[in-house]
Amino acid sequence: MRYLTFALGKGRLANTTLKLFEQIGITCEEMKDKDTRKLIFVNEEQKLRFFLAKGPDVPTYVEYGAADIGIVGRDTILQEGRNIYEVLDLGFGKCRMCVCGPQEAKELLRHHEQIRVATKYPRIARDYFYNKKHQTVEIIKLNGSIELAPIVGLADVIVDIVETGSTLRENGLEVLEEVCPLSARMVVNPVSMKMQQEKISRLITDLRTVISEKQ
Ligand code: PRP
Repeated sequence: MRYLTFALGKGRLANTTLKLFEQIGITCEEMKDKDTRKLIFVNEEQKLRFFLAKGPDVPTYVEYGAADIGIVGRDTILQEGRNIYEVLDLGFGKCRMCVCGPQEAKELLRHHEQIRVATKYPRIARDYFYNKKHQTVEIIKLNGSIELAPIVGLADVIVDIVETGSTLRENGLEVLEEVCPLSARMVVNPVSMKMQQEKISRLITDLRTVISEKQ
């Protein structure tokens, strides 16, 4: 029997995912060892394999079929634009993708001016400004601490994740527009979806039941 392979985005997302999986009887004891340097974990009995990857790499592993299933944030799915199926909202890791900046920048958004937008998510920013707002903007790709950009004058606004809003508040910035809601999602390789349909469908049904009980 073939193994079903899962790619999990490293960090909090992976921990919450494993807790959710335990509720439907999927376990991986090997993975709980915090000191291990192992990269791939196997549950022989259930014929499951798990590995941890950097979030943005998860859709890549799934598109190429190196993983049948991936667990990753919707922000990463939208940014990577890979050929994968998004099959389930796991209901955790909830936050929002927003256009943020100083209050004064609101005017720039309203008047459709040519502005500079800093972001870690250029594809999402481009889609929002070009396809939804029809506003021509200059997009500057950064790799983190995006809130710095409007403070030091690199950009007028940012497109970034807002969870509690405290990073914005502590830096004198605010949400100017909401782009889309985000949360952790399950993605599936299109070929795996056909070849392992029974196993994957059962997994989705079981997870859906546990998730709906929580809500
Ligand atoms: C994310 C995001 C914001 C912050 C939002 O950054 O880019 O900066 O969290 O959270 P809050 O609304 O609860 O303050 P992350 O910590 O992932 O680091 P990064 O800035 O290096 O991307």
